Amino acid sequence: MGGVMCGIVGYVGKRSASPILFQGLTNLEYRGYDSAGIALGGESEIRFYKYKGTVKNLENVVSGRDLHGTIGIGHTRWATHGEPSDLNAHPHLSQDGTIALVHNGIIENARTISSMLEEEGYVFISETDTEVLAHLIEFVGKKADLSFSEAVREALVQVEGTFAVAVISSRNPDTMVVARRGSPLVVGIRDSGSEFFVASDALAFAEHTRFVAYLKENEIAVLRSGDDFRVSAIKGGKKRHPEIIEIEEDLAVIGKEGFDHFMEKEIFEQPRTVRDSMRGRLDPKTGSVRLGGLDDYMGRLAEADRIVFVACGTSYYAAVLGEYLIERYAGIPVEVEYASEFRYRHPLIRKSDFVIAVSQSGETADTLAAIRLAKESGATVLGICNVVGSSIARATDAGVYTHAGPEIGVASTKAFTAQVTVLALLALALAEKRHTLSCKERKRLARELYLVPDKIETTLETRMECESIAEQYAEAENAFYLGRGVCYPVAMEGALKLKEISYVHAEGYPAGEMKHGPIALVEDGVPVVVLAPNAAETHEKVISNIREMKARRGSIVAIVTEGDAETASLANHTVSIPEADEFVLALIAVIPLQLIAYYSATIRGCDVDRPRNLAKSVTVE
Ligand code: G6P
Repeated sequence: MGGVMCGIVGYVGKRSASPILFQGLTNLEYRGYDSAGIALGGESEIRFYKYKGTVKNLENVVSGRDLHGTIGIGHTRWATHGEPSDLNAHPHLSQDGTIALVHNGIIENARTISSMLEEEGYVFISETDTEVLAHLIEFVGKKADLSFSEAVREALVQVEGTFAVAVISSRNPDTMVVARRGSPLVVGIRDSGSEFFVASDALAFAEHTRFVAYLKENEIAVLRSGDDFRVSAIKGGKKRHPEIIEIEEDLAVIGKEGFDHFMEKEIFEQPRTVRDSMRGRLDPKTGSVRLGGLDDYMGRLAEADRIVFVACGTSYYAAVLGEYLIERYAGIPVEVEYASEFRYRHPLIRKSDFVIAVSQSGETADTLAAIRLAKESGATVLGICNVVGSSIARATDAGVYTHAGPEIGVASTKAFTAQVTVLALLALALAEKRHTLSCKERKRLARELYLVPDKIETTLETRMECESIAEQYAEAENAFYLGRGVCYPVAMEGALKLKEISYVHAEGYPAGEMKHGPIALVEDGVPVVVLAPNAAETHEKVISNIREMKARRGSIVAIVTEGDAETASLANHTVSIPEADEFVLALIAVIPLQLIAYYSATIRGCDVDRPRNLAKSVTVE
């Protein structure tokens, strides 16, 4: 199998397709980058080029080759099954070479279909499920003498699983057929349909048009330059007039802005992005919060018996912070679950539950599946997403956008702090509705939140200390991250950052839990990063934990509150952060951990924005 989590692009129009495809693929490389390919049509034969490696590599290899053609498709891949190779790279062609397609998703009944096709004489040259679909389109088309688009439709009726596909045919050199089920697909329109762009994410063609139409689940569309843009249901063929919307965000202007990496830029952007997440929502004078997207639901949410967060990866840690804040300040019972566990463990969901999905991309397949399960069980489902118009934003009953702006670095930073900001706002809004805090206390917390961007700014000044810590531990192969209370999820997130981009094995642990097992691993020189700011209720306990680690000769990196010389004196290295209330502490304490991970990765020579084996948005389960 293969071709499962990826970026796809397509172009139909009057211009040369290849530069548009290369640009689109480059913009989408965050979705996958282990192989890339394009296929160009527009005449009697399809030309295709596909290689293991990056989009840049593809561009270099094909320069000087025949790249003309005003219709084309492209793909950048992230392999989960089927190793990255030229053969497994997309596009895939049908046996007779007349059909080429790119695919994002998984075809679950690929084996059954390939056995059937093998009996009919089809030969498979790749290990991918996608090749099965290419052959199947050819097969059903020939067998029933179907038109190109009808053959695609019929083949898709027969496949099980998920897909976003773009298909071209040398027999219909002016036509592209696209379809989706479970994977995102957006069509861009320019000059009232003289040009069409296709992609997994509107970011791919942002410089060409901001007018887009999202295909809905189980829809297929036929794109032909200068012709009507027609959308219909894959099964049954019911037609729908596509709704064309203008995307607001100026996606066209994303650059590194002088930073070496997107991740670095995104870390340093956080004072602004956290402010953007609060903008228009928090009134620091009255302590009131308004989350417009939840207006119709706040009353009921405040009365909920239970809130269940579902999320993956970094978003999961943000959700754990949401749990701590909402339970403590608003007094509503909260549970947090990994979406991938929630959906398969037969959870008890009641109609009175509020399930809140937290996701940067809004496309994470496990989170989407958890949403579907929650909906089937009758719960109200809300979303906290960064990407406007994403699948999760559309699949939920209502929600809040985090407004962090596009995050390109694979390891999430500014999206995490934006999620935590929104969750803190939600905790305050619920506290206000439920009268769980005095007016004075609520105002004080609102003020604390309002001051966070400035405190992040100050914390970013520790970059040199963080870099020097990263240098000193550049050879370490293991690290611990410890915290208690709100600092525990931060420790988990800090460890995840280090794992993701510098490939150092790191464990995030509740500091108090170390003595129940993991302390056995602490020996001479093992770095132990301890979150020990003095606002935390458990500060004294954390100090004892530091002593326990020191006694085993662990090397202590302490994150302490400015001026706390006593705690600093226990550590081998310290990073000082500004004084902050526990309500907002996570937003500040996470900053040095992001910086330490970032510098560790660059010092170790790792590709920070494109870490091995990871992808920004995981649209496979
Ligand atoms: C992937 C990314 C992680 C991210 C997780 C959840 O695994 O590599 O950085 O935290 O997906 O993504 P989401 O878009 O749902 O927040």
